[in-house]
Amino acid sequence: MELRINGKKRTVTADAKTPLLYVLRDELDMTGTKYGCGEGQCGACTVLLGDAAVRSCQIPASAAQGKEITTIEGLAQDGKLHPVQQAYLNEDVFQCGYCASGMVMSTVALLRAKPKPTEEEIIGFMNGNVCRCGTYPRILAAIKEAAK
Ligand code: FES
Repeated sequence: MELRINGKKRTVTADAKTPLLYVLRDELDMTGTKYGCGEGQCGACTVLLGDAAVRSCQIPASAAQGKEITTIEGLAQDGKLHPVQQAYLNEDVFQCGYCASGMVMSTVALLRAKPKPTEEEIIGFMNGNVCRCGTYPRILAAIKEAAK
């Protein structure tokens, strides 16, 4: 199977039904995308398919064929963090950091769809991303900063 990930063509040998998350982590060693629940409930495994945030634990790798997959490893460009990554850092969001890549990827999807979201829209969109450390106020602050 051929996948296009972070602007590069990658050939993978995994079965077509294998969840994209396992292909990324186990076959391609791209471990920035996290396994949280494996059931589509936590958002830790969020990546972009085109501009849409998707739960990579829930979609077979074959469903991503022909689409641009962006993972956390593909956000920074030319040694410079993506503005969303920078905003999360500026706001000191993370504690354990496990939810970080999923949060950041969902935020990127939100801001692509809606560059100036209201607080309600941010909360509504980010609802499916869980942070066990409860850093939600800082996440909200970072998203507002990134949207400026
Ligand atoms: Fe995919 Fe939790 S690991 S949503």
